[in-house]
Amino acid sequence: MITKPADCHPKSHRLLSSGAAVLLASLSTMSGFIEEPFETIPYIPTPSSAVDRMLELAEVGPGDLVLDMGSGDGRIVIAAAKLGARGRGVEINPELIERSQRNAMRAKVSHLTEFRQEDMFDTPLTDVSVLTLYVLTQSNLRLRPRILTEMRPGSRVVSHQFGMQEWDADKSERHGVNRLFVWYVPARAGGRWRFESGDDHFTLELYQEFQQIRGTAYFGNERLQIRDARLKGTKIDFEIERGNGEPLRFSGTISENTILPRGGDRWRATRTGAAQVIAR
Ligand SMILES: C[S@@+](CC[C@H](N)C(=O)[O-])C[C@H]1O[C@@H](n2cnc3c(N)ncnc32)[C@H](O)[C@@H]1O
Repeated sequence: MITKPADCHPKSHRLLSSGAAVLLASLSTMSGFIEEPFETIPYIPTPSSAVDRMLELAEVGPGDLVLDMGSGDGRIVIAAAKLGARGRGVEINPELIERSQRNAMRAKVSHLTEFRQEDMFDTPLTDVSVLTLYVLTQSNLRLRPRILTEMRPGSRVVSHQFGMQEWDADKSERHGVNRLFVWYVPARAGGRWRFESGDDHFTLELYQEFQQIRGTAYFGNERLQIRDARLKGTKIDFEIERGNGEPLRFSGTISENTILPRGGDRWRATRTGAAQVIAR
């Protein structure tokens, strides 16, 4: 069994060096560490350059509400506010909340930031457009069903160092010793859709696992697999190959039970079967 990392209890938290961040990263790859049911999450700050890159990857700007889960000294929230976004930090340790408030004041962004002493697993996500995480894999997994159901499709999630297992990142990169992951919360695409264009129509059965989609199009008795299917937030793209002609290409935006074309095409799709549940 692997020893637990530094405790983050309010009275016993320790400030760890960036070397410790590497230690946390390597510990996380050891199965004994991540299989503990409720591991404590230590306080280890994200290096400033990685903070900037996380916000860049999430394309944070004015109009966003950025929530950092386990916000430490407030650096991600404050950096987001400097980009014109509103920032919210949720942190269990009251000393770190006070430090964050002082740091926000020093950075002159108090009016754009708020820090709540709260358990991240109880924090609502409904109004959040960008969620930032530097917590362990098991905490990401505990948050995952709520991310998929509470956050609006197209919202962004950025994690420093830890992934979401079966939910592959839409983008990932190394930033020095840090690993960064980005996900777009996928719209509910799975289910049965009726596509109509003038007098023509076909039915599309879509199967969805997180942002991965595959499906079959039915033109009367003709059954065709779709290909190059992609879902990024609310944006869906796929092709249907019919006979020897050019493949039919569809690029649309999903809004609840409707898909409307992006660009100048003239078609419309309506959901005719129950949406498949994607939250796990
Ligand atoms: C690895 S640090 C990340 C700090 C900051 N997000 C950053 O990237 O610099 C994780 C933080 O989560 C806090 N934390 C641990 N468990 C928590 C919980 N259940 N709810 C809220 N915060 C928690 C810890 O006190 C610590 O400050």
